Amino acid sequence: MLRLKPGHVDVGGVRLGNHLLLAAGILGTTGASLARVLASGAGGVVTKSIGPAPSDGHPGPCVVVLDDGLLNAMGLPNPSSDFVDEITSLKGKPVIVSIFGGTPGEFSEVAAWFADIAAGFELNLSCPHAEGYGAALGSDPEMVEACTRAVTRLGLPTWVKLTPNVADIASCGLAAEKGGAHAVVAINTLKAMRISTGLRMPVLGNRYGGLSGRAIFPVAVRCVYDLYEACSIPVIGCGGVSSADDVLEMMMAGASAVEIGTAVLDDPLVFREISEHLYGTGGEDAASLVGCAHE
Ligand code: SIN
Repeated sequence: MLRLKPGHVDVGGVRLGNHLLLAAGILGTTGASLARVLASGAGGVVTKSIGPAPSDGHPGPCVVVLDDGLLNAMGLPNPSSDFVDEITSLKGKPVIVSIFGGTPGEFSEVAAWFADIAAGFELNLSCPHAEGYGAALGSDPEMVEACTRAVTRLGLPTWVKLTPNVADIASCGLAAEKGGAHAVVAINTLKAMRISTGLRMPVLGNRYGGLSGRAIFPVAVRCVYDLYEACSIPVIGCGGVSSADDVLEMMMAGASAVEIGTAVLDDPLVFREISEHLYGTGGEDAASLVGCAHE
């Protein structure tokens, strides 16, 4: 199999240990779990999304495990500004703080709390099931631009995580770029639902949730491909990645780095295992692969 040259990489203004990052939402709620994921071979980590006020999230059930994926409606539970203390010890490490807000001002307020600690920010403009947040803003390119600009003003690397639940993801990517984003991340979960035939009602407490895992990988590849065609800033792939070959495919579509989320639930050592297959001495420079499927 094709191998990549190992070592540090600079993506979207952030120096990463390798091309693989922990995606937001999994193992990202404590400093200890983030440190453990870094120690287990991730080149960077993205925290659970943090917002302007503490929240318990949606009522349960919040998760449905499926054959080829996971359906969640956590509802953006988070400790808000208390999370600053949780990750202070990780200052200097490649920790990207995922943030959300209901307005550009709220994005800027939350980002400012972490400005001394974060290696960068990832703006959650893409959660598909939180009223007034996430994709509610991120489906509107003007709002994407305004929220992005509100955070890039702080001068730290700013990535914008986009929703696939739109007709034209490239227009949202271009809006993030216009707002000064250093990278776009594609994709967050696909809005989805399951119904219990026994109970005759939706399984999730929130009714709607977001689908992640292997089932969404082809959608993520298509979105990365579309964004690479449209944007000049780096694209970071996310969605259903679970093997070294998936990482290479994402890169060929246009991803400069790749986030891994749901696969960590099945295998907490997934970063080490993917790295063992992905990297090797004498390996190819990743730059020659990124976007090669477009030529
Ligand atoms: C959640 O907390 O509900 C998931 C976050 C997301 O989908 O962005």
